[in-house]
Amino acid sequence: MLKVGKTLAAKKMDLNLKGKIAFISGSTSGIGFTTARILLEEGMKVYINGRKEETVNTAVTELKNTTESNEVYGIVADFRNPEEVMRLLQELPEIDVLVNNVGIYNSQSFFETTSKQWEEQFQVNLMSGVSLSNHCLQKMLCKKWGRIIFISSECAYLVPNDMISYSATKAAIHALSRGLSQLTRGTGVTVNTVVPGSTLSEGAKHFIADKAVKEGSNPKTVERDFFRKERTQSLLERFASTDEVATTIAYLCSPLSSATNGTVIRVDGGSTGSVF
Ligand SMILES: NC(=O)c1ccc[n+]([C@@H]2O[C@H](COP(=O)([O-])OP(=O)(O)OC[C@H]3O[C@@H](n4cnc5c(N)ncnc54)[C@H](OP(=O)(O)O)[C@@H]3O)[C@@H](O)[C@H]2O)c1
Repeated sequence: MLKVGKTLAAKKMDLNLKGKIAFISGSTSGIGFTTARILLEEGMKVYINGRKEETVNTAVTELKNTTESNEVYGIVADFRNPEEVMRLLQELPEIDVLVNNVGIYNSQSFFETTSKQWEEQFQVNLMSGVSLSNHCLQKMLCKKWGRIIFISSECAYLVPNDMISYSATKAAIHALSRGLSQLTRGTGVTVNTVVPGSTLSEGAKHFIADKAVKEGSNPKTVERDFFRKERTQSLLERFASTDEVATTIAYLCSPLSSATNGTVIRVDGGSTGSVF
């Protein structure tokens, strides 16, 4: 029995994504970057994105070196800037898979969050997905195949006191994603939402460091107390790796997930605590 189990585990699953084209917003690091790596390993052509030429070029080089694929391209665009978003949409070729991953977050009191910060978070976290989906969905519907995946957060459910604006942007994503899925009826296009729990990306490391400064503590203590005091329902009781989240995203990108549409898949380690 053990021998059979080992053989099965060693056999890599083919996600049937070869030759398809993906765009992942905010993907020079973190969950987006790891998703790009997995999709490249599956034989896709992948367009990644970030705000700066330097980070985009570095990520493209790293992905080429680590995957032995040359089918990775970078598009520089800051989703806070509508002109850069317009340029991105002009540069973007027709794609099969859209991963609306970009999201900005920090630890901040509601009373200290300015209108400009609220607007920026909605612009980057929600409106990026609106613009990209508006650009891509119609073409996917014409082809009768496509995948749109929105990356939400456990915060859409938990609404931590220090992340109210961020949580609001993520809750809005659920309505957007469900609404778009309703436009795909009878086609091979699907639109779904992935809900990561706390995941050890570059962004999460900055979040922890920032929280440590604000609390007069240190990152190690913040990380330990985080699951004891703030993610009390977590069954994982640790940060997930970006790989643990990106494998689920890659599955939803694939033709294998064809019966999953208009729904929410949680990769939250149990942190949201609800049964449904
Ligand atoms: N990490 C977690 O614990 C966690 C938990 C739940 C949900 N999520 C969600 O998962 C997604 C990915 O998070 P992450 O933690 O992996 O990200 P991250 O490590 O913070 O990476 C952020 C990425 O987004 C890009 N980016 C930031 N602002 C941008 C902007 N205005 N325009 C274009 N690109 C921008 C960055 O690129 P440059 O620096 O090159 O510009 C970088 O590639 C987000 O939607 C986040 O809300 C994360």
